[in-house]
Amino acid sequence: MELLSSAHVRVLLFFSLLIFTAAAGAAAAAGGGGGSGGGRWDLLQSSIGVSAMHMQLLHNDRVVVFDSTTLGPSNLSLPGGACRRYPNEPALKVDCTAHSAEYDVTTNSFRPLTVLTDTLCSSGSVAPDGTLVQTGGSNDGDRNARTFRPCSNSATCGWSEASNVLAVSRWYATNQILPDGRAIVIGGRGQFNYEFYPKTNAADTATIPLPFLSQTSDPEENNLYPFVHLNIDGNLFIFANNRAILLDYKKNAVVRTYPKMPGGDPRNYPSTGSSVLLPLKPSPTEAEVLVCGGAPAGSYLQVSQHGTFVRALETCGRIKITDEAPTWAMEIMPMPRVMGDMVLLPTGDEVLIINGAGMGAAAWEMGQNPVLMPLLYRPRALSGSRFVVQSQGTIPRLYHSTAVLLRDGRVLVGGSNPHNRYVFSNVEYPTELSLEAFSPEYLNPAFAASRPSIISPLLLISYGKQFPLRFRIGSLANTVSVTMASPAFATHSLSMNQRLLILGTTEPVAVGRTAGVYEVVATAPVTATLAPPGYYMVFVVNNGIPSEGIWIQIQ
Ligand SMILES: *[C@@H]1O[C@H](CO)[C@@H](O)[C@H](O)[C@H]1NC(C)=O
Repeated sequence: MELLSSAHVRVLLFFSLLIFTAAAGAAAAAGGGGGSGGGRWDLLQSSIGVSAMHMQLLHNDRVVVFDSTTLGPSNLSLPGGACRRYPNEPALKVDCTAHSAEYDVTTNSFRPLTVLTDTLCSSGSVAPDGTLVQTGGSNDGDRNARTFRPCSNSATCGWSEASNVLAVSRWYATNQILPDGRAIVIGGRGQFNYEFYPKTNAADTATIPLPFLSQTSDPEENNLYPFVHLNIDGNLFIFANNRAILLDYKKNAVVRTYPKMPGGDPRNYPSTGSSVLLPLKPSPTEAEVLVCGGAPAGSYLQVSQHGTFVRALETCGRIKITDEAPTWAMEIMPMPRVMGDMVLLPTGDEVLIINGAGMGAAAWEMGQNPVLMPLLYRPRALSGSRFVVQSQGTIPRLYHSTAVLLRDGRVLVGGSNPHNRYVFSNVEYPTELSLEAFSPEYLNPAFAASRPSIISPLLLISYGKQFPLRFRIGSLANTVSVTMASPAFATHSLSMNQRLLILGTTEPVAVGRTAGVYEVVATAPVTATLAPPGYYMVFVVNNGIPSEGIWIQIQ
């Protein structure tokens, strides 16, 4: 029986591969989108006027984009004829252009937003009510916090700024949303400590020391934008440079020290690799982290002092962070990559590795050999066959590029500005103002009959409670799952707060007499430790083909 079914699976796989190849060939012949490997590329906007250094999808299907006020004029005017006047501004003392924009996924349109202090290399998370909470930056904005509350009548919502509300300057810090709904803001240049935001009271100006960050700082730093993941035990996994700790942030105690990653090369800014918490199973008892790419020690200094571009790292390390004495399992990507972005796909079984360079480091003018081919990493496949090369894109996405999952299953790709201004000519890699969508192979129209379509409205769900999901489908497989993905804050190759949970579900049951309508009952994560409160995208996945997601709010 077991043998028979696995043989069946192989035959099915073989035929779906044939259909796949045929469909991809047909799409390429029809001239739609780019590429003939897995997935396709589409140019959404040739310019939104602002380079997407930071991106955050909100639950109105709009993406807040921003870079920095120190880059000189952007290609988008501030609304209402506003200008920013700042006498100490290094680039432009009066700037009437926007450095933030809102991209509307549904209508494929954008509008300028007003941010008047510097958000360069900052961090953020989404509060339980769906408000983007962004912290820090540089220059006049390094201790500021800014909020953006999404609204349906988009003309009426915008950024709101609070000055000097952080205890210290937070430039290149990492934020993680906590089970209590606050964000913890960790590190930043010269800051070997953490704090929380919002403050529980105005007098809370404390920073809590984190010596791990000074211990992992080297002559290139290599510990900025630490990789932070909320573990299922409520502690924080924090990776900086080439190693990690498990931090009980409530007691400020290091509860576990993970071994140094084999090879010892740095993975954090400016030797920027990327990292994800791998998808969590229903009622998880274990959690794993994957760290991929980066740059060998010395890469940054090699470029800055000698103009030598060093080949990026081609290794990934994977570790079971819940183990008492875990070890790193190393894997080799098909090509080296620094400044890649990692996106958890809604199938619950795929990590997209996209953007970045084959040589150099993360800083102005320091990347070369753009890597145009994304990779899929399939965490449950056999070791040695986990990477699948995807269709090649056409636009280099180097330093200051980003990628975020959209509710419809596409990945929005933007940014790339390796210059300290907007530069469009006489450079190898001009400032990119375009937005593209990468559509993973599951969006191939050949799978239309297998794609579930959820017919439930936006839901409010409670921890540990069951909730029904009704969906329509042409051809139901016997493996239906429900996944739940957080909208992440993407910048500098790190998607902060990125989390994907596979939920416990019942078998689908046909509903009423309408053919092709089914219902599954899913169980919400039991605690806010597994899924901090807020908005998530929920998908029904039929044999590897996800539905378009719906927004749910968990509380
Ligand atoms: C941005 O504006 C500059 C100056 O007007 C122009 O030269 C350039 O082509 C524009 N770039 C894009 C991508 O729209």
